[in-house]
Order: sequence, then structure tokens, then C-alpha cells
Amino acid sequence: MKAIQYKHSIRPYTTFNIAAHSAEFVSVQSIAELKEALENIPPQKIRLLGGGSNMLWTQDFDGRTIHLNLKGITTLETTEKDVLVDVQAGENWHDFVLWTLKNDLGGVENLALIPGNVGTAPIQNIGAYGVELKDVMENCTLLHRNSLKEEILSTADCHLGYRDSIFKNKLKDQVVITSVRFRLFKAPHSLHTSYGALAQELATRHQTIQEVAQAVIRIRQRKLPDPKEIGNCGSFFKNPIVSQSVFMALQKKYPNLPSYPADQAVKIPAAWLIDQLGFKGIRRGDAGVHPNQALVLVNYANASGAEIWALAQEIQEAVQTTFGIALEAEVTRY
Ligand code: EPU
Repeated sequence: MKAIQYKHSIRPYTTFNIAAHSAEFVSVQSIAELKEALENIPPQKIRLLGGGSNMLWTQDFDGRTIHLNLKGITTLETTEKDVLVDVQAGENWHDFVLWTLKNDLGGVENLALIPGNVGTAPIQNIGAYGVELKDVMENCTLLHRNSLKEEILSTADCHLGYRDSIFKNKLKDQVVITSVRFRLFKAPHSLHTSYGALAQELATRHQTIQEVAQAVIRIRQRKLPDPKEIGNCGSFFKNPIVSQSVFMALQKKYPNLPSYPADQAVKIPAAWLIDQLGFKGIRRGDAGVHPNQALVLVNYANASGAEIWALAQEIQEAVQTTFGIALEAEVTRY
């Protein structure tokens, strides 16, 4: 059995950099070690940890935290046009993006610099600058927590939606994603550069995937705090989706309200709502709202998870009172 550590600090493993402890902690590097770590422990006593970039611990955990440290990138198939690669869950997402750029494989360049690991990317169907994981993912490999059986689930069967998937619903707490497979494209690449901020950043017409990634990196570095310097989990809230009629009523009151079409409904940037209420850049002790992006809550040094959550609730209440919109946290709170 892989060595278990007791009363282990999870602070270095989460990008919010918040002090909290897990009664047991084990870092696994193979499927065999993962199976051993899961065996004979009730599901509610297990917490899975990937890149720690989408979780807020508000208290200590009286169970076993399993750190998924499975590594490796393998090319499974090559055709004239594309390549199928298998990436283990514990690979850092941005390191994987850099690997694709080095190998001149297109598909994930718009998703550069997103924090977290490859194995957690399908859970919330990560997305940025007009591309979502579901556009490039072929399937993923799962380990069922109870039966310890492995299964391959196609992208269609993962029900990937806006920051949503089967892993947040029917399969919540049932499985561990152990690897993800991607269909990546050889040159000549088709690029996705129409997203407003990205189109502005890219000056010339003829671009490469490497230039697109560099532009995304520049935009993100300007607006988003680096978790190595200021603790954060990227966007804290989801952008709310409202009906056409709700949107029209709001637009009458707030003519500058930005919006994006979302199927039959309308997506409103949560950042705009929060910004309007004057929260941008505010600070409550060491918990705060980032001065450059109102959707990002930050830990300046020693905020507790409970303090960050209290600030999140203060924002939710203010948005509800003024705009009548319920903001939903994108980050998982424990
Ligand atoms: N805005 C403000 N104030 C701000 C920031 C933004 O009013 O402080 C308004 C502006 O009108 C702006 C609009 O909000 O045009 C949208 O802002 P932005 O393009 O920065 O994107 P976002 O909706 O805030 C989403 C994702 C990000 C992703 C970006 C770019 C969610 C919850 N967030 O943010 O994802 O990088 O689009 O595609 O969907 C993440 O999930 O952690 C994340 C960073």
C-alpha cells in the first residue's frame, strides 16, 4: 500500500492557497495504487484532488484525500490529418497545451494557461475564447469507485454543456477520470479567432496555433491573477443564463447590459453584474475581488475558506437583490 500521510495540509495542492487539513492523504501514480487507495473506504470519506484549481475548502476533511498523480502522454493513432493522444489525468493542463504546440498539433491552443489538470477538465467542460473541451475530446477513461472497474466513455455520453457534465450530475462521486483522449489536428490548422478579445489581440491575418496560444496567454496574464502569486480559482461564478423575456426586461433598465446568445436563451456576463455593484477590487481582510476581473475571487495571503465563501455569498445576495438573478458558484465548495 502506498504510504498514507496523516493530518496533511492541502494548502500547497490548491490554487486558492487556503489552510486546511485532510485526516488522510495519499498521492497515487498508477491505476493499481488508485484502486488500493479507494478500496474499503465509504464514498463520503473520499475526496479526489487533481490540480486543486476549482475547489474551495471551508473546513478540514475527516476522510481520505486521493491526489491523482497519474502521468504520461501517449500517441495512439496517426492519420494524414490528425492524431489521437491519450493524456493521463494528473498531467498539468497547460503543460499538455505546450506539448501540442511543440508538436504542431491544433485543437487546444485557445485553452492555454487554464489552471488545473487534464483529468478534471471534462468535469466542467473547460472553455475559453470560443473553444470548449468538448470540441477536441474523443473520450475518457473512468474507474468506477465501487466496482473498481474501468470504462471508456465517449464525449457524447459525457453530456458536456456550459461548465457542466455527467460528472456533476448522474456520475457525481461515482467515478474517477483516469485519462482523457484528444483528436488533435496536423497543419494546415483551422483556427478559432473570432472571440472578441482574441480577435483584437491578434493583429495580423495569417496566424499559427502558436501565435493564437501566445495571444491567449497575453490576455489571460493581463486580466487574471497568477495563482502562484495571489490565490484564486479563476472564474468563481458561472455566467447566468436567462430567458429572452427576463433579458429584455433587464435590458430596458440597463441598456448597456452585455449578452451572448445561448441556445434559446441569453448568457449574461456575471463579471458585468458584479462590476456594476462596485465589488471589483474590494477587500474583506485577505479575501477580495480581483481589481482586473470581477469574476475572480482572490486570497491575498491568509484568508480562510469560510471568509472567501462569505464574500461570495455577499456578492450573490447583492446580485439577487438588484438584478433578480441567482449567481451559481462554478467552484466546488467543501
Ligand atoms: N466584464 C465586466 N467587468 C469585468 C470583467 C468583465 O463588466 O471586470 C464584462 C465585459 O462586458 C466583458 C464580459 O464581462 O465583455 C465578459 O468578460 P470576459 O470575456 O473576460 O469573460 P468572462 O465571461 O468573464 C469566461 C469564462 C472564463 C474564460 C473567458 C474567456 C466563465 C464562468 N468564465 O469569462 O473562464 O477564460 O470567458 O473565454 O464562463 C474559468 O472558467 O475559470 C475562466 C477563467
